[in-house]
Amino acid sequence: MNQGAGGRDNASSQSPTLNSASETRRSFLGALLALGTAFVAALLSAPLIRFALFPLLRRTTELKESPVGPVSDFSALSAPVERTIQIEQVDGWRRTVSEKAVYITKDSAGKLCVLSSICPHLGCTVPWSVEKNAFACPCHGATFAADGNRIGGPALRGMDTLESKVEDGQLLVRFQYFRQLVAGKEVIG
Ligand code: FES
Repeated sequence: MNQGAGGRDNASSQSPTLNSASETRRSFLGALLALGTAFVAALLSAPLIRFALFPLLRRTTELKESPVGPVSDFSALSAPVERTIQIEQVDGWRRTVSEKAVYITKDSAGKLCVLSSICPHLGCTVPWSVEKNAFACPCHGATFAADGNRIGGPALRGMDTLESKVEDGQLLVRFQYFRQLVAGKEVIG
């Protein structure tokens, strides 16, 4: 009984300086452990964060040139000819291949050129009308000449020409999207 009281007396009789030193050591070790854990966690999570954010940080690739066909196929054009091209685009992890219709025609100087089939008014696909000898949009009646120049209707500009070139006898075109409802040609993708 007396011994117990003596033990308590011993514990309570430890110097306040020793107690304080022991607490300081414990809290220092705790802080060191927390710091080490945070460092290892940051080290391990960095690749995961980069992996997760990669699609957001990566720029969309530009559309590549697509083959249209041998340029000799278009040497004797008397009216626009429609061709379907395949375009490939990579957005982050997503790779898409889609098909687009384009027209091979001649510009006002008689030079071969490629037109997007997307109406610059509101984006409908514009067919060539043999009867009208013009492109005639079925949606709101915009009409365009064989070289893509605007004839009438609500579209504010002519059909959009696409960049094209001839390589090894093949006609190549770079498909692009343009802003609709504006008078100027403005690339949006
Ligand atoms: S989308 Fe072609 S005229 Fe409106």
